[in-house]
Amino acid sequence: MRIPLLAGNWKMYKTVTEAVEFVRGLKEALAGVQGVEVAVCPPFTALHAVTRELEGSNIVLGAQNMHHAEEGAYTGEISPVMLKEIGCRYVILGHSERRQYFGESDEDVNAKVKAALKHGLVPIVCVGERLEEREAGHTERVVGAQVRRSLAGLSSAELAGLVVAYEPVWAIGTGRTASPEDAQQVNAFIRCLLAEMGGQEAARQVRIQYGGSVKPENAAELLGQPDIDGALVGGASLKVDSFAAIVRAAL
Ligand code: G3H
Repeated sequence: MRIPLLAGNWKMYKTVTEAVEFVRGLKEALAGVQGVEVAVCPPFTALHAVTRELEGSNIVLGAQNMHHAEEGAYTGEISPVMLKEIGCRYVILGHSERRQYFGESDEDVNAKVKAALKHGLVPIVCVGERLEEREAGHTERVVGAQVRRSLAGLSSAELAGLVVAYEPVWAIGTGRTASPEDAQQVNAFIRCLLAEMGGQEAARQVRIQYGGSVKPENAAELLGQPDIDGALVGGASLKVDSFAAIVRAAL
């Protein structure tokens, strides 16, 4: 039985003050909720304050990116060691915004995934096709290549423990969501591919989220699909009410 993971990717939103206020409200809204895992992924600047605020709660911390090296002369970067020390359980890797605006390749993502695993962080590895790729009928080819390359060289046990997020680029921040059937189809395809790469047992255990304009109104139907094990939520994770409603839709 896979426990759904509802993760809020705050992107470049919220100051430390706003982050702390938000988490206080979320803790209250989700008190007593069981059977799902909830993570918030604030900007780096708010990680420390949020980790303190989350102490003793059932909400865990994630980061939105990291460098693959443990330390070094990489101005502006953050290492897996730093994220682990500050209390992160998850780290989002290969988000389409990182791929699109910061030129991250599958090979970069692969190096980061390996580094995250080495330091005890759980990667949330994002994959997804662009609109023109979907319209040309290339979704599986594109997503399949991203999965194979981003997760190359991992053992079955490593594959089993990670999280993959299927996020069609055309659905991110656009209000346009993949239909539950389309999302289910791609998630099932990813699971089949992971079975080829790491065996049936690993594929059975790995959690595959959907992301892209998830809202309280569409969450239950998406999360009700057999191969959708949670959601990576952007915009709707920035308000306590909407994120809590999405979490409750997974129960
Ligand atoms: O990581 C989250 C995704 O990019 C989805 O963002 O929910 O604002 O569409 P969105």
